[in-house]
Amino acid sequence: MLITRNIKMADVIHLNYFTLTVLNRFGIELGFGDKSVEDVCKMYQVDADFFLEIVNTFVDKDYFPKKHLQTFPVKLITNYLQKTHDDYHQNKVPEIEFLIEQMVNSCYTQKDKIVLLKKFFNDYKQELLNHTKREEEVVFPYTLAIEKAYLSDKPDQSVLKLMETYSIDVFQNEHDNIEEKLFDLKNIIIKYLPQPKNSKLCNKLLFELFNLEQDLNDHSRIEEKVLVPKIRQMEKIITEGFAQTK
Ligand SMILES: [Fe+2]
Ligand SMILES: [Fe+2]
Repeated sequence: MLITRNIKMADVIHLNYFTLTVLNRFGIELGFGDKSVEDVCKMYQVDADFFLEIVNTFVDKDYFPKKHLQTFPVKLITNYLQKTHDDYHQNKVPEIEFLIEQMVNSCYTQKDKIVLLKKFFNDYKQELLNHTKREEEVVFPYTLAIEKAYLSDKPDQSVLKLMETYSIDVFQNEHDNIEEKLFDLKNIIIKYLPQPKNSKLCNKLLFELFNLEQDLNDHSRIEEKVLVPKIRQMEKIITEGFAQTK
């Protein structure tokens, strides 16, 4: 079922409660009662079209309007990606750490194995932090600079220098699959840890890991299939523009 602007926002959550995370990333909080998606977006000054595309790609994995998503300003796209990073570091990772800590304290008799799991996740956390930091400090500012030059009637020559030192292809080549390691982590819990004392806690942790993995997949898809081609196209037009004025 495709989510449209006239549907009640409450029904979006009923349809798929994972959308709550998406709502929060757009700054939308509960308390909207019976209001439609369009009215809630208006209330929070959120671009309803962009919200609908993001929420629909999140709910239905087959729905991915690459071309349409590429029509939105880079600022909207990078803002959403940035909010997603913040959510990982402020909510999802601490929640997983908390559950692992609880498991260390209560779940297993063979503590050494669960301590290894803790170390594995700590390393993962650092890797995720490096990954998102690089995007925030290098990639997002680069994409915004490219869009600015693309939209300008007479782009500054400095953009050529910038494109000599970096390009969106460099990002694509170095962009690692950060969700892959989560699979290994889940597998350690599912296959290699001894029977837990507290299965509920163990299931909860697995659920959070599956959830983060899926979310990261969705996130990378926007980076690689929306942001990268959009910027590549702009780089091409900028380069052609300068070549013509020579
Ligand atoms: Fe990212
Ligand atoms: Fe990424």
